[in-house]
Amino acid sequence: MARLVLLLWYLGTLAAFRQASAVEYTALNNASSTAGGARFDGEIGTEYTKKVMNSSTVCIWQIFQELTSEDRRDVQAVSVFIESMEGVAYALIDTNEIHVSSEYIGNYSGDVKNEITGVLYHEMTHIWQWFANQEAPTGLTEGIADFVRLKAGYAPSHWVKPGQGNRWDQGYDVTAHFLDYCDGLLSGFVADMNKKMKTGYSPQYFVELLGKTVDQLWSDYKAKYGN
Ligand SMILES: *[C@@H]1O[C@H](CO)[C@@H](O)[C@H](O)[C@H]1NC(C)=O
Ligand SMILES: *[C@@H]1O[C@H](CO)[C@@H](O)[C@H](O)[C@H]1NC(C)=O
Ligand SMILES: *[C@@H]1O[C@H](CO)[C@@H](O)[C@H](O)[C@H]1NC(C)=O
Repeated sequence: MARLVLLLWYLGTLAAFRQASAVEYTALNNASSTAGGARFDGEIGTEYTKKVMNSSTVCIWQIFQELTSEDRRDVQAVSVFIESMEGVAYALIDTNEIHVSSEYIGNYSGDVKNEITGVLYHEMTHIWQWFANQEAPTGLTEGIADFVRLKAGYAPSHWVKPGQGNRWDQGYDVTAHFLDYCDGLLSGFVADMNKKMKTGYSPQYFVELLGKTVDQLWSDYKAKYGN
């Protein structure tokens, strides 16, 4: 039985890899002449970036349990642009573009390759996740993107610790740790939540999946960590 489950898992993984190669990945450094752009070329590079776009895609499909193309957003190609801009990075889901700041790369102190890998996992999640026809709280969609980054092992040291934060929908690391708690109560919770968000959003989804309101879950979560 265990062997059969493993075999099915393996076949599922193979199928995911095969389909991942059908997506076209491009990466372009439009800031090569800047200090941050040069650091990108020296320490990260477009070839590595395309590899991460691929591996993150496979990882996201696994976490979302979207192993067939019918389950997923119809995305044929994703592009990453390194360019001089403010902020860190953003994704445009109408054109499936990710823009990453060369200035952020230039100023980053520490392992910039690891940091940008984590940023790419976050932005690639935006490419694949459902936005509930724009009804989803931004804190939830940003939290799901950081949940994927956390699960992939790219949570940076500057993140808050589990149990920290003021609101469940604060977004990013705060919501990612909360979603990880929810996923611990029901394995596949984030996958189920994302599936529900294909068509819309309701706070009732938490009750349907976990039997408690999101406010009750948040206070249970805070109590668990003594906060
Ligand atoms: C994506 O990764 C898989 C598994 O490592 C590989 O077989 C495939 O060629 C890759 N596709 C692209 C476009 O990089
Ligand atoms: C990046 O550079 C290419 C080639 O010079 C250009 O076509 C494209 O519009 C630029 N993209 C961005 C986002 O700046
Ligand atoms: C650091 O950030 C500032 C402000 O965005 C920018 O002007 C500067 O070029 C950046 N430094 C590097 C090395 O990229």
